[in-house]
Amino acid sequence: MYPTDRPRRLRSDGIRPLVSESSLSASDLVAPVFVDATTDERVPIESMPGHERVPVEEAVARVEEVRDTGVEAVILFGIPETKDPEGTRAYAADGVVQRAIRRISESTDAYVIGDVCLCEYTDHGHCGVIEEDAETDPTLTVRNDETLELLAETAVSQADAGADMVAPSAMADGQVGAIRSALDDAGHEDVALMSYAAKYESAFYGPFRDAADGAPAFGDRRHYQMDPANRREALREARLDAEAGADVLMVKPGLPYLDVVSDLRREFDRPIAAYNVSGEYAMLHAAAEKGWLDLEAVAYESLLSLKRAGADLIVTYFAEDLADRL
Ligand code: PBG
Repeated sequence: MYPTDRPRRLRSDGIRPLVSESSLSASDLVAPVFVDATTDERVPIESMPGHERVPVEEAVARVEEVRDTGVEAVILFGIPETKDPEGTRAYAADGVVQRAIRRISESTDAYVIGDVCLCEYTDHGHCGVIEEDAETDPTLTVRNDETLELLAETAVSQADAGADMVAPSAMADGQVGAIRSALDDAGHEDVALMSYAAKYESAFYGPFRDAADGAPAFGDRRHYQMDPANRREALREARLDAEAGADVLMVKPGLPYLDVVSDLRREFDRPIAAYNVSGEYAMLHAAAEKGWLDLEAVAYESLLSLKRAGADLIVTYFAEDLADRL
């Protein structure tokens, strides 16, 4: 009549930690940092409470704040002084991100990752150079192969500045191969590459696009970012990137795509990253502000679920707050 198998036996305080299957620590986390060439003081990002755009002069101080919490890795995004159709400030030696990376790598021990994309740098807000009639013809957007050269140049310029890792996020076909060979040709064989392998065309990027001023001026990104309906296709994307030399494979966003994190974990022997994106951060903050959720608890549970699904590392705006608690 009574159960012989009682899972509750393993839930008492003494045994819980011994049988715990996943854990979260500060060394799993990467903190996004925004450097802004258009300001000389820190500007709070309204839709991402606690985050700011900082001028290059403050980049080192900002990274030191992150490291003080125990988080050792940062990923840099830039807001350039000017934008143009080719996104030239993305690959300028004196671009905002390149200047920040130079300072950070000279004066801190942080692990520095550069996000490689053109959308913050193009005046049309797309992730590469666009077709001539793209503005009026919604079937046209980014010219894939021309964009590859610019992404490769961006990655090399970041590596020249001292980046430890580059992370292409433009979803151009062949971007990993193009960047890897450009890095190697430039003598940057030791610079690692984390690909945004399965990056979906997601509405959860909204707050980031405010933060980095990178929303497309027309159209959307559905011709190059993945369809949220697709799961098998993520394996194909990840395979192409792994074969082209990606050291780490990322899934983005995180929480709405736990199945994809889990698939990549099972299928590949490389580290898997998950990007807990701006919308995932903003929605928990908004609910907590209303008193409907306990922010720290839901943030912790969210990141733990990404670890449980199979992520080794997590890019998250919660990095500093959670590391402080861990
Ligand atoms: C650049 C890029 C984006 C994000 C990271 N890199 C924006 C986009 O694709 O529109 C989103 C990050 C976030 O929402 O936190 N391509």
